[in-house]
Amino acid sequence: MRIQLRINGVETEADAWEGEPLLYTLREKLGYPGAKNACEQGECGSCSVLLDGTLVCACLVLAAQADGHDVITVEGLADGDRLHPVQQAFVDAGAVQCGFCTPGLVVATADLLTRSPDPSDDEIREALSGNLCRCTGYEKIFDAVRAAAG
Ligand code: FES
Ligand code: FES
Repeated sequence: MRIQLRINGVETEADAWEGEPLLYTLREKLGYPGAKNACEQGECGSCSVLLDGTLVCACLVLAAQADGHDVITVEGLADGDRLHPVQQAFVDAGAVQCGFCTPGLVVATADLLTRSPDPSDDEIREALSGNLCRCTGYEKIFDAVRAAAG
């Protein structure tokens, strides 16, 4: 089937098979590799994107379900060459090791700060509970979120 998406503000069309995950369409067909494919089961959050402003796991959303909707990927957060404040905070805090979890965490953090510009540690924990990192121990990630909020 032919689907239409608005990805990071750009009207885009793609062919998708019936059960095709949005993550596959983004990465393999449309050239948006930012959302990572780590589990394909909704467990790790590395594929997080915003669908009509709602944080979702792109591996659990069918491309067909996104037909006609707005998708923001981690690539869409930066302003040209200028990193989004959350992206910059992750860099500055050293919250990136292998980086596999980072795009999902950045999107989830940007979503959190839109809803709650000055989140408590509990809010941060809750908001990022769906994003797994195997490297950092989370402390630097928390530092990055606090810095971005500041
Ligand atoms: S790849 Fe989607 S949640 Fe892990
Ligand atoms: S930095 Fe490696 S999984 Fe998070």
